[in-house]
Amino acid sequence: MSVIRSVISGTGSYLPQNIITNSDLEEKVDTTDEWIIERTGIRQRHIAAEGELTSDLAVNAAKNALESASLEADDIDLIIVATSTADQTFPSTATTVQRKLGIIKGAAFDIQAVCSGFIYALTTADNFIKAGQAKNVLVIGAETFSRILDWEDRTTCVLFGDGAGAVVLSAQTGDGNNDDQGILASRIHSDGRYNDLLYVDGGVSSTGTIGHLRMKGREVFRHAVVNLASVVGEVLEDSKMVSDDIDWIVPHQANKRILDGTARKLKIDPNKIVITVHKHANTSAASIPLALDEAVRDGRITRGQIVILEAMGGGFTWGACLLRW
Ligand code: UT7
Repeated sequence: MSVIRSVISGTGSYLPQNIITNSDLEEKVDTTDEWIIERTGIRQRHIAAEGELTSDLAVNAAKNALESASLEADDIDLIIVATSTADQTFPSTATTVQRKLGIIKGAAFDIQAVCSGFIYALTTADNFIKAGQAKNVLVIGAETFSRILDWEDRTTCVLFGDGAGAVVLSAQTGDGNNDDQGILASRIHSDGRYNDLLYVDGGVSSTGTIGHLRMKGREVFRHAVVNLASVVGEVLEDSKMVSDDIDWIVPHQANKRILDGTARKLKIDPNKIVITVHKHANTSAASIPLALDEAVRDGRITRGQIVILEAMGGGFTWGACLLRW
C-alpha cells in the first residue's frame, strides 16, 4: 500500500562563536570544572553575542539545512520553530525566520515544549506531511537560554548553552512498511503535574518580566531516565522493532549521566549514542538537531540506518521519533 512518508532530506546547524568553558564559570560562581564534568559531562557551552537573536541562529541553521537538501527557500511551504526563548513575545520567531529567509508563502509558527520542542515540532511536521498539507517543512530548534539563566545560580547556569539546528522534512512515497525511508513512528507526551520542577519564574501574564530558569535537578533527572526509556520502548513497539534494531540514538543532550542511564535501561550499546553535551551543554530544543547534523556530516549516520530521536523537558514534556535514515 502506497503511503506518504516524511523523510529528512537535509540537516544544518549553527553555534555562536563565543565559548564559555567551565574554568570561565569558576570565576563567576562557586563551582569547579571537576564538579561540572563529573555530574554532567559538560566542558563548555556557546553563548550568543549581544544583539544575536534566536532567529539569527535559526536562520543560519536553516540555510545549512536547505543547502544540504539541495532545496531553495522558495521550496518550503511550512516553517516550525521549536523554542522557549523567542525573539519577542509576538510575532512568532518562525515568522521572523520566514522573513529573513525571504519566503512569502506557506505558513510559519512556533512550538513551545521546552527541551522536547524539536520532537514535538518534528511530529507536528510529520502529521502535516502525512495529511498532504505540506511537502517541504523546515523544522528548527533554536535557543538563547543564556538570556533566561540566573548567572548567580550555580545549580543552573553551568548547564545550558545557545545554538540552533534544523532539518528539512520532505514528503516521499513509501510502501507502508518498515523498509520505507523516513519517520516510521513517533510519540509525544506531557504531564502538567510536574510544572514546578523545571520552569521560568516570570512571564507576560504573571509577572510581566522575562524571569529566570529554575530547576529541581535531582527530581527532573529521576523522571528523565524513566520517561525516556519508556517512550523509546513505545516507538520500538509501534514499529515492531527491538533495541537491537537501533543503529543510532540521538538524544536531547541534558546530562551525560542521563544518556548513560537511559542506554543501560534500554540495554543499548553506549557507542550507539550520539553525544555532544560536552561541547554544547544543554541547548534545549536545539540539542537534537545540532547532534543529528554533526553525526550526519561526519558520516556516522548513513542512509538505511534506524535512528531514534528522544527528549524530555519542562512541563513535563517528552517524546521520541523512530526513523529510517
Ligand atoms: O533539559 C531538560 C531536562 N533537564 C535535565 O534533565 C537536568 C536533570 N538534572 C541533572 O542533570 C542533575 O540533577 C544536575 C546536574 C542538575 C545536578 O546533579 P546532581 O548529581 O543531581 O546534584 P544535586 O542537585 O543532588 O547536588 C549535589 C550537590 C549539592 O550540594 P549539597 O546539597 O549536597 O551540599 C549542590 O548544592 O552539588 C551542589 N552543586 C554544585 N556544586 C558545585 C550544585 N550545582 C553545583 C555546581 N558546582 N555548579
